[in-house]
Amino acid sequence: MDNLLLNITTHGNDEVGYLSFFESNKDIPFDIKRIYYTYLVPIDTKRGMHAHKELQQILWCPYGKIEVVLNNGNEKSSYILDSPEKALLVLKGYWHDMYWRKEGSVLCVAASEHYDEADYIRDYDEFLKYVKEGYWDDEN
Ligand code: TYD
Repeated sequence: MDNLLLNITTHGNDEVGYLSFFESNKDIPFDIKRIYYTYLVPIDTKRGMHAHKELQQILWCPYGKIEVVLNNGNEKSSYILDSPEKALLVLKGYWHDMYWRKEGSVLCVAASEHYDEADYIRDYDEFLKYVKEGYWDDEN
């Protein structure tokens, strides 16, 4: 499975507004164990700069515009989250960099595991070593 830009199911109209939703193991391929969100981030800030050994996540931006660059050690793909109806599935083993492209943008994340610093790879050379050694081969 690849990282995917998902369309979140949305109900509503311009008169009363909109409601979007997704469900574990139906719209996304894991049980949600944790939700977190990042806000009051100055424009053009870069966050992320890490990969996860096992964690899977869904990222969405309910307000604003955030660019997410995913890197599997060989190639990079850029995704724009600029609508509450879009979400990005980020699989394990991808180095991710996020860029805040609009003032006031909010990034929400639903994660497959509880917080565990031991699951982070925060050193880019170490990430490349995991890729080279085939740590994620046949898993994604
Ligand atoms: P981090 O994942 O590095 O954020 P970003 O990638 O957006 O820069 O997390 C920032 C800090 O918050 C770091 O010290 C770890 C801590 N943290 C938790 O304690 N629990 C959590 O669920 C998350 C996501 C982060």
